[in-house]
Amino acid sequence: MSHDAPNRLDANVAGLFTPFTIGHVTLPNRFVMPGMQRGWCRDGAPLPELADYYRRRVEGGVAMVISESCAVNHPSATAQPGACKLNPATLDGWSRCVDSVMAAGGQMLLQLWHEGALRNDADGRTLSPSGLGYRGFAQGRAATLDELAELRDAYVASALLARRAGATGVEVHAAHGYMLDQFLWAETNIRNDGYGGAAIEDRVRFPAEIVAAIRQACGSDFLISLRFSQWKEHDYAARVAETPDELRAMTRILREAGADMLHASSRRFWVPEWPDSNRSLAGWTRALSELPTITVGSVGLDKDVMESFTTEGEARGTVSASVSELSRRLAEGEFDLVSVGRSLIGDPDWVAKVRSGDHAAIRPFRKDDLGVVEWES
Ligand SMILES: Cc1cc2nc3c(=O)[nH]c(=O)nc-3n(C[C@H](O)[C@H](O)[C@H](O)COP(=O)(O)O)c2cc1C
Repeated sequence: MSHDAPNRLDANVAGLFTPFTIGHVTLPNRFVMPGMQRGWCRDGAPLPELADYYRRRVEGGVAMVISESCAVNHPSATAQPGACKLNPATLDGWSRCVDSVMAAGGQMLLQLWHEGALRNDADGRTLSPSGLGYRGFAQGRAATLDELAELRDAYVASALLARRAGATGVEVHAAHGYMLDQFLWAETNIRNDGYGGAAIEDRVRFPAEIVAAIRQACGSDFLISLRFSQWKEHDYAARVAETPDELRAMTRILREAGADMLHASSRRFWVPEWPDSNRSLAGWTRALSELPTITVGSVGLDKDVMESFTTEGEARGTVSASVSELSRRLAEGEFDLVSVGRSLIGDPDWVAKVRSGDHAAIRPFRKDDLGVVEWES
Protein backbone atom coordinates (compact mmCIF):
# COMPACT_ATOMS: atom_id res chain seq x y z
CA MET A 1 0.00 0.00 0.00
CA SER A 2 1.27 3.44 -0.83
CA HIS A 3 1.48 5.74 2.16
CA ASP A 4 1.34 8.95 0.19
CA ALA A 5 -1.88 8.42 -1.71
CA PRO A 6 -3.79 11.64 -2.24
CA ASN A 7 -6.73 12.33 -0.01
CA ARG A 8 -9.61 10.70 -1.86
CA LEU A 9 -11.66 9.98 1.24
CA ASP A 10 -14.64 12.11 0.56
CA ALA A 11 -15.50 9.98 -2.43
CA ASN A 12 -15.18 6.60 -0.81
CA VAL A 13 -15.37 6.83 2.96
CA ALA A 14 -19.13 6.39 2.99
CA GLY A 15 -19.07 2.57 3.06
CA LEU A 16 -17.20 2.57 6.35
CA PHE A 17 -19.99 4.62 7.86
CA THR A 18 -22.86 2.35 6.82
CA PRO A 19 -24.63 0.29 9.51
CA PHE A 20 -23.90 -3.38 9.95
CA THR A 21 -26.09 -5.99 11.63
CA ILE A 22 -24.76 -9.09 13.38
CA GLY A 23 -27.40 -11.22 15.03
CA HIS A 24 -29.63 -8.94 17.10
CA VAL A 25 -27.18 -6.03 17.08
CA THR A 26 -26.95 -3.22 14.54
CA LEU A 27 -23.78 -1.16 14.64
CA PRO A 28 -23.99 2.37 13.19
CA ASN A 29 -20.63 2.11 11.41
CA ARG A 30 -17.78 -0.36 10.80
CA PHE A 31 -15.27 0.77 13.44
CA VAL A 32 -14.29 -1.40 16.41
CA MET A 33 -11.69 -0.86 19.11
CA PRO A 34 -9.81 -4.17 19.64
CA GLY A 35 -8.62 -5.55 22.97
CA MET A 36 -5.58 -3.68 24.26
CA GLN A 37 -4.10 -4.13 27.73
CA ARG A 38 -3.58 -0.76 29.37
CA GLY A 39 -2.62 -1.70 32.92
CA TRP A 40 -5.67 -0.04 34.48
CA CYS A 41 -6.75 -3.02 36.59
CA ARG A 42 -6.18 -3.74 40.28
CA ASP A 43 -6.58 -7.28 41.60
CA GLY A 44 -8.06 -8.10 38.20
CA ALA A 45 -10.79 -5.44 38.41
CA PRO A 46 -10.91 -2.51 35.98
CA LEU A 47 -10.26 0.92 37.48
CA PRO A 48 -12.71 3.78 36.79
CA GLU A 49 -10.29 5.28 34.26
CA LEU A 50 -10.67 2.20 32.06
CA ALA A 51 -14.44 2.78 31.86
CA ASP A 52 -13.83 6.46 31.03
CA TYR A 53 -11.28 5.54 28.36
CA TYR A 54 -13.67 3.10 26.66
CA ARG A 55 -16.57 5.60 26.81
CA ARG A 56 -14.40 8.34 25.32
CA ARG A 57 -13.68 6.17 22.23
CA VAL A 58 -17.42 5.60 21.69
CA GLU A 59 -18.04 9.33 22.02
CA GLY A 60 -15.38 9.71 19.33
CA GLY A 61 -17.31 7.49 16.92
CA VAL A 62 -16.36 3.86 17.65
CA ALA A 63 -19.33 1.50 17.24
CA MET A 64 -18.10 -1.41 19.36
CA VAL A 65 -15.42 -1.76 22.02
CA ILE A 66 -13.70 -5.05 22.77
CA SER A 67 -12.27 -5.05 26.29
CA GLU A 68 -8.66 -5.80 26.92
CA SER A 69 -7.89 -9.45 27.59
CA CYS A 70 -9.63 -10.70 30.74
CA ALA A 71 -8.24 -13.86 32.28
CA VAL A 72 -10.91 -16.53 32.60
CA ASN A 73 -11.80 -17.75 36.06
CA HIS A 74 -9.22 -20.52 36.45
CA PRO A 75 -5.96 -20.52 38.47
CA SER A 76 -3.93 -21.52 35.42
CA ALA A 77 -5.14 -18.58 33.29
CA THR A 78 -2.49 -16.01 34.22
CA ALA A 79 0.01 -15.22 36.95
CA GLN A 80 0.43 -11.57 35.97
CA PRO A 81 -0.47 -9.40 38.94
CA GLY A 82 -1.64 -6.55 36.68
CA ALA A 83 -3.86 -8.61 34.40
CA CYS A 84 -7.59 -7.99 34.14
CA LYS A 85 -9.76 -10.89 35.24
CA LEU A 86 -13.38 -11.83 34.77
CA ASN A 87 -14.59 -13.47 37.96
CA PRO A 88 -17.28 -12.75 40.57
CA ALA A 89 -15.02 -10.32 42.43
CA THR A 90 -14.47 -8.14 39.33
CA LEU A 91 -18.02 -8.25 38.00
CA ASP A 92 -19.03 -4.81 39.30
CA GLY A 93 -16.03 -3.17 37.64
CA TRP A 94 -16.85 -4.76 34.29
CA SER A 95 -20.51 -3.80 34.66
CA ARG A 96 -19.39 -0.18 35.06
CA CYS A 97 -17.31 -0.41 31.88
CA VAL A 98 -20.21 -1.92 29.92
CA ASP A 99 -22.66 0.65 31.31
CA SER A 100 -20.40 3.53 30.39
CA VAL A 101 -19.90 2.25 26.81
CA MET A 102 -23.61 1.61 26.34
CA ALA A 103 -24.66 4.95 27.83
CA ALA A 104 -22.62 6.55 25.05
CA GLY A 105 -24.40 4.39 22.43
CA GLY A 106 -21.73 1.71 21.93
CA GLN A 107 -21.71 -2.07 22.09
CA MET A 108 -19.16 -4.01 24.12
CA LEU A 109 -17.59 -7.46 24.03
CA LEU A 110 -15.44 -8.71 26.92
CA GLN A 111 -12.38 -10.63 25.75
CA LEU A 112 -11.76 -14.06 27.35
CA TRP A 113 -8.11 -14.99 27.66
CA HIS A 114 -5.79 -17.67 29.01
CA GLU A 115 -2.02 -17.56 28.61
CA GLY A 116 -1.41 -21.30 28.34
CA ALA A 117 2.28 -22.16 28.26
CA LEU A 118 3.30 -18.47 28.09
CA ARG A 119 2.19 -18.05 31.72
CA ASN A 120 4.86 -17.51 34.36
CA ASP A 121 5.13 -20.96 35.98
CA ALA A 122 6.67 -20.02 39.34
CA ASP A 123 3.73 -21.72 41.10
CA GLY A 124 3.80 -24.82 38.91
CA ARG A 125 0.16 -24.43 37.77
CA THR A 126 0.71 -23.69 34.08
CA LEU A 127 -1.43 -25.74 31.69
CA SER A 128 -1.50 -25.83 27.90
CA PRO A 129 -2.11 -28.29 25.06
CA SER A 130 1.36 -29.85 25.16
CA GLY A 131 3.51 -27.87 27.59
CA LEU A 132 5.01 -25.87 24.69
CA GLY A 133 4.97 -22.10 24.20
CA TYR A 134 6.84 -22.20 20.90
CA ARG A 135 9.71 -24.16 19.39
CA GLY A 136 12.46 -24.52 21.98
CA PHE A 137 10.30 -23.14 24.80
CA ALA A 138 8.67 -25.67 27.12
CA GLN A 139 6.80 -24.56 30.22
CA GLY A 140 4.22 -26.16 32.51
CA ARG A 141 2.52 -29.32 31.33
CA ALA A 142 -0.18 -30.65 29.03
CA ALA A 143 -3.70 -30.40 30.43
CA THR A 144 -5.43 -33.73 31.07
CA LEU A 145 -8.87 -34.38 29.61
CA ASP A 146 -10.42 -33.63 33.02
CA GLU A 147 -8.55 -30.34 33.11
CA LEU A 148 -9.79 -29.49 29.63
CA ALA A 149 -13.35 -29.97 30.89
CA GLU A 150 -12.54 -27.69 33.85
CA LEU A 151 -11.08 -25.05 31.54
CA ARG A 152 -14.12 -25.18 29.28
CA ASP A 153 -16.28 -24.58 32.34
CA ALA A 154 -14.08 -21.62 33.31
CA TYR A 155 -14.62 -19.98 29.90
CA VAL A 156 -18.36 -20.54 30.25
CA ALA A 157 -18.40 -19.16 33.81
CA SER A 158 -16.60 -16.01 32.66
CA ALA A 159 -18.91 -15.64 29.64
CA LEU A 160 -21.93 -15.89 31.92
CA LEU A 161 -20.43 -13.12 34.04
CA ALA A 162 -19.98 -11.01 30.90
CA ARG A 163 -23.65 -11.53 30.16
CA ARG A 164 -24.55 -10.54 33.72
CA ALA A 165 -22.42 -7.41 33.28
CA GLY A 166 -24.70 -6.53 30.35
CA ALA A 167 -22.09 -7.02 27.63
CA THR A 168 -23.22 -7.50 24.04
CA GLY A 169 -21.13 -10.65 24.00
CA VAL A 170 -17.62 -12.00 24.35
CA GLU A 171 -14.56 -12.40 22.20
CA VAL A 172 -12.72 -15.70 22.64
CA HIS A 173 -9.00 -14.89 22.40
CA ALA A 174 -7.39 -17.60 20.27
CA ALA A 175 -4.59 -15.44 18.82
CA HIS A 176 -1.01 -14.19 19.20
CA GLY A 177 0.42 -17.39 20.70
CA TYR A 178 -1.75 -17.74 23.83
CA MET A 179 -3.65 -20.82 25.10
CA LEU A 180 -6.27 -21.37 22.42
CA ASP A 181 -3.81 -20.37 19.71
CA GLN A 182 -1.45 -22.99 21.17
CA PHE A 183 -4.24 -25.48 20.39
CA LEU A 184 -4.62 -24.19 16.83
CA TRP A 185 -0.91 -24.18 16.00
CA ALA A 186 0.70 -27.51 15.03
CA GLU A 187 4.02 -26.44 16.59
CA THR A 188 2.54 -26.14 20.10
CA ASN A 189 -0.12 -28.85 19.90
CA ILE A 190 1.26 -32.37 19.60
CA ARG A 191 -1.57 -34.08 21.47
CA ASN A 192 -2.73 -37.42 20.12
CA ASP A 193 -6.08 -37.65 21.89
CA GLY A 194 -8.26 -36.04 19.22
CA TYR A 195 -7.44 -32.49 20.41
CA GLY A 196 -4.19 -32.03 18.54
CA GLY A 197 -1.70 -33.18 15.95
CA ALA A 198 -1.41 -32.75 12.21
CA ALA A 199 -5.09 -32.19 11.36
CA ILE A 200 -6.54 -28.70 11.83
CA GLU A 201 -9.91 -30.39 12.47
CA ASP A 202 -8.40 -31.88 15.67
CA ARG A 203 -6.50 -28.75 16.71
CA VAL A 204 -9.62 -26.57 16.48
CA ARG A 205 -11.69 -29.01 18.50
CA PHE A 206 -11.07 -27.48 21.94
CA PRO A 207 -11.60 -23.83 20.89
CA ALA A 208 -14.77 -24.95 19.07
CA GLU A 209 -16.01 -26.81 22.14
CA ILE A 210 -15.55 -23.63 24.15
CA VAL A 211 -17.53 -21.62 21.61
CA ALA A 212 -20.30 -24.24 21.60
CA ALA A 213 -20.44 -24.35 25.41
CA ILE A 214 -20.65 -20.55 25.64
CA ARG A 215 -23.38 -20.52 23.00
CA GLN A 216 -25.36 -23.13 24.89
CA ALA A 217 -24.99 -21.36 28.23
CA CYS A 218 -25.48 -17.77 27.07
CA GLY A 219 -28.20 -18.16 24.44
CA SER A 220 -28.61 -17.05 20.86
CA ASP A 221 -28.80 -13.30 21.52
CA PHE A 222 -25.27 -13.11 22.94
CA LEU A 223 -22.55 -12.33 20.39
CA ILE A 224 -19.50 -14.57 20.21
CA SER A 225 -16.47 -13.38 18.27
CA LEU A 226 -13.39 -15.56 17.98
CA ARG A 227 -10.06 -13.85 17.45
CA PHE A 228 -7.29 -15.82 15.76
CA SER A 229 -4.01 -14.95 14.07
CA GLN A 230 -1.44 -16.65 11.94
CA TRP A 231 1.40 -14.65 13.56
CA LYS A 232 2.66 -15.15 17.08
CA GLU A 233 4.43 -12.67 19.28
CA HIS A 234 7.48 -14.93 19.02
CA ASP A 235 7.13 -15.95 15.40
CA TYR A 236 5.78 -13.63 12.72
CA ALA A 237 6.01 -16.33 10.05
CA ALA A 238 3.92 -18.87 11.99
CA ARG A 239 0.74 -20.26 10.48
CA VAL A 240 -2.17 -22.11 12.05
CA ALA A 241 -3.67 -22.63 8.59
CA GLU A 242 -1.06 -23.47 5.97
CA THR A 243 -3.56 -23.44 3.11
CA PRO A 244 -6.96 -21.97 2.25
CA ASP A 245 -8.40 -25.48 2.66
CA GLU A 246 -7.18 -25.60 6.26
CA LEU A 247 -8.58 -22.13 6.91
CA ARG A 248 -11.91 -23.24 5.45
CA ALA A 249 -12.00 -26.34 7.67
CA MET A 250 -11.06 -24.39 10.80
CA THR A 251 -13.49 -21.53 10.30
CA ARG A 252 -16.40 -23.75 9.27
CA ILE A 253 -16.01 -25.78 12.46
CA LEU A 254 -16.04 -22.56 14.49
CA ARG A 255 -19.12 -21.39 12.64
CA GLU A 256 -20.93 -24.66 13.29
CA ALA A 257 -19.96 -24.37 16.96
CA GLY A 258 -21.84 -21.07 17.13
CA ALA A 259 -19.34 -18.27 16.49
CA ASP A 260 -21.09 -15.15 15.16
CA MET A 261 -17.98 -13.52 13.77
CA LEU A 262 -14.25 -13.97 13.33
CA HIS A 263 -11.57 -11.40 14.11
CA ALA A 264 -8.66 -12.18 11.80
CA SER A 265 -5.67 -10.57 13.50
CA SER A 266 -2.86 -9.37 11.22
CA ARG A 267 -0.07 -6.89 11.79
CA ARG A 268 -0.89 -5.10 8.50
CA PHE A 269 -4.41 -5.30 7.13
CA TRP A 270 -3.43 -5.03 3.46
CA VAL A 271 -0.84 -7.83 3.25
CA PRO A 272 -1.87 -10.74 0.96
CA GLU A 273 -2.18 -14.01 2.85
CA TRP A 274 -1.41 -16.42 0.00
CA PRO A 275 0.25 -15.94 -3.39
CA ASP A 276 -1.77 -15.31 -6.56
CA SER A 277 -4.29 -13.12 -4.80
CA ASN A 278 -4.32 -9.74 -3.13
CA ARG A 279 -6.69 -11.04 -0.46
CA SER A 280 -5.76 -10.44 3.16
CA LEU A 281 -6.25 -12.96 5.94
CA ALA A 282 -9.57 -11.28 6.74
CA GLY A 283 -10.58 -11.52 3.08
CA TRP A 284 -9.88 -15.24 2.94
CA THR A 285 -11.56 -15.74 6.31
CA ARG A 286 -14.77 -14.02 5.25
CA ALA A 287 -14.89 -15.82 1.89
CA LEU A 288 -14.24 -19.27 3.32
CA SER A 289 -16.22 -19.07 6.56
CA GLU A 290 -19.10 -16.97 5.27
CA LEU A 291 -19.11 -15.34 8.69
CA PRO A 292 -18.93 -11.62 9.45
CA THR A 293 -15.24 -10.79 9.74
CA ILE A 294 -13.18 -8.08 11.42
CA THR A 295 -9.94 -6.95 9.82
CA VAL A 296 -7.12 -5.22 11.73
CA GLY A 297 -3.52 -4.12 11.50
CA SER A 298 -1.74 -0.78 11.29
CA VAL A 299 -4.76 1.25 10.24
CA GLY A 300 -3.55 4.83 9.96
CA LEU A 301 0.04 4.04 10.95
CA ASP A 302 3.31 3.15 9.24
CA LYS A 303 4.66 0.91 12.03
CA ASP A 304 3.10 -2.39 13.00
CA VAL A 305 2.15 -3.14 16.56
CA MET A 306 5.32 -5.03 17.47
CA GLU A 307 7.60 -2.33 15.98
CA SER A 308 5.71 0.15 18.13
CA PHE A 309 6.94 -1.55 21.28
CA THR A 310 10.55 -1.45 20.25
CA THR A 311 10.97 1.88 18.49
CA GLU A 312 10.60 5.25 20.14
CA GLY A 313 8.50 8.14 19.03
CA GLU A 314 5.57 8.63 16.80
CA ALA A 315 4.34 6.28 14.09
CA ARG A 316 3.86 8.30 10.89
CA GLY A 317 0.21 8.87 10.14
CA THR A 318 -1.10 7.22 6.96
CA VAL A 319 -4.77 7.93 7.48
CA SER A 320 -5.74 8.89 3.93
CA ALA A 321 -4.01 5.92 2.36
CA SER A 322 -5.35 3.53 5.00
CA VAL A 323 -8.92 4.66 4.71
CA SER A 324 -8.85 4.56 0.90
CA GLU A 325 -7.49 1.03 1.00
CA LEU A 326 -9.99 -0.03 3.67
CA SER A 327 -12.86 1.39 1.68
CA ARG A 328 -11.71 -0.41 -1.43
CA ARG A 329 -11.36 -3.73 0.39
CA LEU A 330 -14.72 -3.28 2.14
CA ALA A 331 -16.38 -2.72 -1.23
CA GLU A 332 -14.69 -5.87 -2.53
CA GLY A 333 -16.21 -7.86 0.33
CA GLU A 334 -12.98 -8.56 2.24
CA PHE A 335 -14.38 -7.74 5.68
CA ASP A 336 -17.36 -6.28 7.51
CA LEU A 337 -15.75 -4.44 10.41
CA VAL A 338 -12.34 -2.94 11.06
CA SER A 339 -10.44 -2.76 14.33
CA VAL A 340 -8.39 0.34 14.95
CA GLY A 341 -5.97 -0.16 17.82
CA ARG A 342 -3.09 2.20 18.45
CA SER A 343 -4.60 5.00 16.38
CA LEU A 344 -7.45 5.10 18.90
CA ILE A 345 -5.04 5.17 21.81
CA GLY A 346 -3.40 8.16 20.15
CA ASP A 347 -6.62 10.02 19.42
CA PRO A 348 -10.04 9.10 20.88
CA ASP A 349 -11.71 11.15 18.12
CA TRP A 350 -9.93 9.28 15.31
CA VAL A 351 -13.18 7.90 13.84
CA ALA A 352 -14.99 11.26 14.00
CA LYS A 353 -12.03 12.97 12.32
CA VAL A 354 -11.96 10.34 9.57
CA ARG A 355 -15.64 10.90 9.05
CA SER A 356 -15.24 14.65 8.72
CA GLY A 357 -12.10 14.31 6.60
CA ASP A 358 -10.09 16.32 9.13
CA HIS A 359 -6.97 14.16 8.95
CA ALA A 360 -4.60 16.96 9.74
CA ALA A 361 -6.18 17.21 13.19
CA ILE A 362 -5.52 13.56 14.05
CA ARG A 363 -2.95 13.10 16.76
CA PRO A 364 -0.78 10.12 15.76
CA PHE A 365 -0.05 7.35 18.25
CA ARG A 366 3.34 7.46 19.94
CA LYS A 367 5.02 4.86 22.08
CA ASP A 368 4.90 7.12 25.15
CA ASP A 369 1.10 6.88 25.04
CA LEU A 370 1.45 3.39 26.50
CA GLY A 371 3.04 4.74 29.67
CA VAL A 372 4.80 2.04 31.62
CA VAL A 373 2.61 -0.80 30.37
CA GLU A 374 4.34 -3.62 28.61
CA TRP A 375 2.33 -5.35 25.91
CA GLU A 376 1.37 -8.67 27.38
CA SER A 377 -1.32 -10.14 25.19
C1 LIG B 1 -0.86 -1.83 24.21
C2 LIG B 1 -1.46 -2.96 23.46
C3 LIG B 1 -2.08 -3.98 24.14
C4 LIG B 1 -2.68 -5.05 23.45
N1 LIG B 1 -3.39 -5.99 24.17
C5 LIG B 1 -4.13 -6.89 23.50
C6 LIG B 1 -5.09 -7.69 24.19
O1 LIG B 1 -5.31 -7.56 25.39
N2 LIG B 1 -5.78 -8.61 23.46
C7 LIG B 1 -5.60 -8.75 22.10
O2 LIG B 1 -6.27 -9.59 21.48
N3 LIG B 1 -4.72 -7.97 21.42
C8 LIG B 1 -4.03 -7.04 22.09
N4 LIG B 1 -3.24 -6.15 21.38
C9 LIG B 1 -3.24 -6.19 19.88
C10 LIG B 1 -4.30 -5.22 19.34
O3 LIG B 1 -5.61 -5.67 19.64
C11 LIG B 1 -4.21 -5.06 17.81
O4 LIG B 1 -4.44 -6.30 17.19
C12 LIG B 1 -2.86 -4.53 17.39
O5 LIG B 1 -2.50 -3.39 18.14
C13 LIG B 1 -2.87 -4.18 15.89
O6 LIG B 1 -3.76 -3.13 15.65
P1 LIG B 1 -3.18 -1.63 15.37
O7 LIG B 1 -2.11 -1.82 14.36
O8 LIG B 1 -4.38 -0.87 14.86
O9 LIG B 1 -2.65 -1.11 16.66
C14 LIG B 1 -2.63 -5.09 22.04
C15 LIG B 1 -1.99 -4.06 21.35
C16 LIG B 1 -1.44 -2.99 22.04
C17 LIG B 1 -0.82 -1.86 21.26
